[in-house]
Amino acid sequence: MARPTLSLLFLLSFFLLAFSFNAEDPELKTCKHHCRQQRQFSESEKRECELRCEEYARERREYNPRREGEERERWEGERNPYFFDRESFQHRIRSEHGSVRVLERFTQRSELLRWIEKYRLGIMEANPNAFVLPHHLDADAVFYVIQGCGTLNVLREENNRESFSIRKGDIVRIRAGSMVYLINHDDNEKLYIAKILRTVSSPGVLREYFAVGGENPQSFLRSFSSEILEAAFKTRRESLEKLFRHEKGAIVKASKEQIRAMRRRSSEGGSRWPFGESSSTFNLLNKRPSISSRHGQLFDADSGDYRELEDLDIQVSFANITGGSMMAPFYNTRSAKFAIIVGGEGYFEMACPHVSGEQEEGERSERGEREERETEERESQEKRISYQKIKSQLSHGSAFLIPAGHPVAIVASGNENLQLVCFEIKAKDNRRLFIAGKDSILKQLEKEAKELSFNAPAKEVDEWLGRQEEKAFMAGPEHRREKRIPVNSILDFAGF
Ligand code: CU
Repeated sequence: MARPTLSLLFLLSFFLLAFSFNAEDPELKTCKHHCRQQRQFSESEKRECELRCEEYARERREYNPRREGEERERWEGERNPYFFDRESFQHRIRSEHGSVRVLERFTQRSELLRWIEKYRLGIMEANPNAFVLPHHLDADAVFYVIQGCGTLNVLREENNRESFSIRKGDIVRIRAGSMVYLINHDDNEKLYIAKILRTVSSPGVLREYFAVGGENPQSFLRSFSSEILEAAFKTRRESLEKLFRHEKGAIVKASKEQIRAMRRRSSEGGSRWPFGESSSTFNLLNKRPSISSRHGQLFDADSGDYRELEDLDIQVSFANITGGSMMAPFYNTRSAKFAIIVGGEGYFEMACPHVSGEQEEGERSERGEREERETEERESQEKRISYQKIKSQLSHGSAFLIPAGHPVAIVASGNENLQLVCFEIKAKDNRRLFIAGKDSILKQLEKEAKELSFNAPAKEVDEWLGRQEEKAFMAGPEHRREKRIPVNSILDFAGF
């Protein structure tokens, strides 16, 4: 039993590799053909093989719409796996009234990101008076309302509908599988929601399930045979078909009356407390900022503020960096931070020891000098500590990732404030440690440690560390106007 399974796996990985870059129907056909040809396979193994071909082809189609320049992007992605431009968010739902875009899978970008493979980031956009049809996801989600207001309805138990009024700054946790629908009840303003999703079944594989709908969005009920449906709903097929003819897309426009009624019901439901907070949402911007100065503000909410974040171990924050200012170099002790740019422009710089290691390996095999490689391998036990400078231009709609322990600085360029919505995972017991500024962690070094580490008198070190009096947010580099940073992410060696 073990041998056929092994050989099946081996052959499959060969086929998948062979066709991974070109998984259109002809390739799928060939892949399946090869499955049938394997004499050592039993019938069920052949079927399993074919299913895997299909699954793989489907994944490739869905997540790989950009063919042109793909090789180059893959290469750049490997060298800077931490930055995602606006186009990395791919449409899952789109109609004239709104859209849902989800960031590509992290493992699609780089193997370096396998540790966060179960997370996805998304952006929902609903036009004024738009209604998003009821659906559920195979993922837990945390929503952050970037802009606008609306009513969110969550169906999770029988005989119970939770209705929330949502507005800018609100954080809402949605449990996996809850049926959700929402409406932008404003006549003028768009509703924007950023979300982090933690998939519950296959890591990183995310699917929307629409019970209602028809052709567009397709209702999953259409997958059932009419016998089942007739029996289940005790209704004749013809009348069932009338109910599943929806073709207007997953986001449609609601009438004034419909909106008024739904909105009234949500406030009658008493989900929003008289003093402004609902028990099931938390408004981040109502909270006092944890850091605030003329150079910027930082708001954050953890499970202490909003209990619903506890089991997901997620923290949500909003940073508003004044134009021309920056967030001083810092690192997170435990958590990884996903940041989505929701306003302004700027750039970030980060030191990463992983990318540089990977690149060295690549260069080595390119040279193909076996002898040298062997020597280097022997020496790799005492491999030199080096970092790659990761640097990317940030603009509205792009996103980036800061893994734990990685020192990073974020700069707002120009006159506009740089605004970031951040989701931090593994938030429990995390500390944000600043390297520079009034509360620099380096100031905690004792006198002798300073002398030994900086090879200078402690007094001199103290004078140097004391120069920056601002805390966390401070004036940014002044020379920013002369060097234009290319729009695409760039990378060069760290010069420090
Ligand atoms: Cu790294």
